[in-house]
Amino acid sequence: MKQQLLEGVVYQIWPRSFKDGNGDGIGDLKGIIEKLDYLADLGITTIWLSPIYASPDTDYGYDIRDYYSIHPDFGTMADFDELIRQAKARHIAVVMDLVVSHTSDQHPWFLSAKADPNSPYRNYYFFRQGKAGGPPNNWISLFGGSAWTKAPQPDTYVLTLWTPTQVDLNWTNPAVRQDIYAMMRWWMDKGIAGFRMDAINLIDKHPDFPDKDPHKKGYQFADDLIRSRPLSYDYLAEMNREVLSKYSGLYIGEGILAKPDEVARYSGINENRLDLMFHFDQVFLGNGPLGKYDFRKFYHWTIPQYKETFFRWQLASQAQQFRLGNFLSNHDNGRPVSRFGDDQRYRRESAMALLTNTLTAYGTPFIYQGEEIGMTNFTIDQADWKDYEAINAFSVLQSMMHVPAFVARKIVQHVTRDLSRTPMQWDEGPYAGFSTVKPWMVINPNAPKVNVKVDQGHPQSIHAYVKALIALRQKHEALRSGSLTPILESHPHLLAYTRSTAEETLVILINLAKHPATFKYPEGEGSTLLLSNYPDRGPMMTKMVFAPYEVRILKLGQST
Ligand code: GLC
Ligand code: CA
Repeated sequence: MKQQLLEGVVYQIWPRSFKDGNGDGIGDLKGIIEKLDYLADLGITTIWLSPIYASPDTDYGYDIRDYYSIHPDFGTMADFDELIRQAKARHIAVVMDLVVSHTSDQHPWFLSAKADPNSPYRNYYFFRQGKAGGPPNNWISLFGGSAWTKAPQPDTYVLTLWTPTQVDLNWTNPAVRQDIYAMMRWWMDKGIAGFRMDAINLIDKHPDFPDKDPHKKGYQFADDLIRSRPLSYDYLAEMNREVLSKYSGLYIGEGILAKPDEVARYSGINENRLDLMFHFDQVFLGNGPLGKYDFRKFYHWTIPQYKETFFRWQLASQAQQFRLGNFLSNHDNGRPVSRFGDDQRYRRESAMALLTNTLTAYGTPFIYQGEEIGMTNFTIDQADWKDYEAINAFSVLQSMMHVPAFVARKIVQHVTRDLSRTPMQWDEGPYAGFSTVKPWMVINPNAPKVNVKVDQGHPQSIHAYVKALIALRQKHEALRSGSLTPILESHPHLLAYTRSTAEETLVILINLAKHPATFKYPEGEGSTLLLSNYPDRGPMMTKMVFAPYEVRILKLGQST
């Protein structure tokens, strides 16, 4: 079971914007059930649901009020059970988001802890005394501003590394860990197939909460004081013993700013912690030193950087025997075709090229809703912004970094997480077929052109290509578990590698540029073409010219 999950293809659903099943403008579980056939047809084996638990939604579900109930916007527990049943009937496994680095400040644990310093729940969180009239230390929140929020008691603060309403859980308290493990078992017993663990490398904080770089002015990113600290490995080993190892599930960690050595311990094949981890070096390419809202470099990236990052992780994952979740798209990052491809003239070709990379890399591939039809970024009017991070960044950029409002607005519009959270575009009808009423969030104006229905009827359908690619992956073990070796490494535009098992070698050639790429690959002569994103491709010659974003997947030697 685990092996099947590891070798499958995961589709991430951000439920609020996937499909509205009851006509209130908000995506929900009924809507997901309606689309299971669509996912099964694509060849998806697993879905990962972003949080569907009860939540006040300051961070759209990543602030959980009750781990045991379904957000009424999404339906009921009966709807959830039905989803599991219907997914199983189509051989689709369901992985839930697990957000246990923090809870909402509306969680009963926190309500009790906050009201009463003697509450048994006080030690579920980090309450600390202020310092010199301010917060206990100079740590910055991952969304900007102080990482501490005032508690009702005088000169008392509580740690909130994300929004001020997401209160960090104190994992040093064994009662916290046992409550979490019990909750995880409860969901696994219900028939889910695993968890994607939010911010899981941040669960251990430096016990003394020292200032980060005390000589520096202003709030500082606490990095080594909060990230991949020693006990985080112990806690996950314990979680594995007490919960994960008792089931044959898929356990995926979000590795915030993680480096290969850390991932090797979290998702190492012989480490008995997690199965997979995400790293973010690929999607963070071109960010300035202060992160994605750092306007100085404005998302400049190059193909050689893309290649270097990709191969560095791929080679580390094989050499150090850990497993990666491979992705270019999720609910926290804009659309890859706009970021790494060309969302105008070569939208179809480049969307297919990028998906080829994700689906042929070593590790488990993740597709995010809308990626399979090449959904794009667009300029979202400030009045339509929904995401806390974006709204907060707009003011932090102005107040702390003295960026003029019109520049701050542009930066936010360029990188906001809202870009990936607009409603899924199903057809050219009203509200893109997402809902029968005006949705909770603005729809991309290109919906009449870019949608599932139009794409499926197009001779160069991205959707059909993804389907073929997934089928190819299922057919060729080399694409699922074969070793990956870079080729043509110094080519400035071509991303190329082989995947091999003892039986066969497949070659993946991807032109990442919006102009033709010329190269020599004598080994390709006499090979069999398995898949291309351009029609009517002839045989490979020693010297080749690939069209913009052209992809070919070859099998070396004659076809059998
Ligand atoms: C993770 C989630 C993100 C969320 C944050 C806090 O990074 O992917 O959406 O805002 O954790 O829970
Ligand atoms: Ca709904």
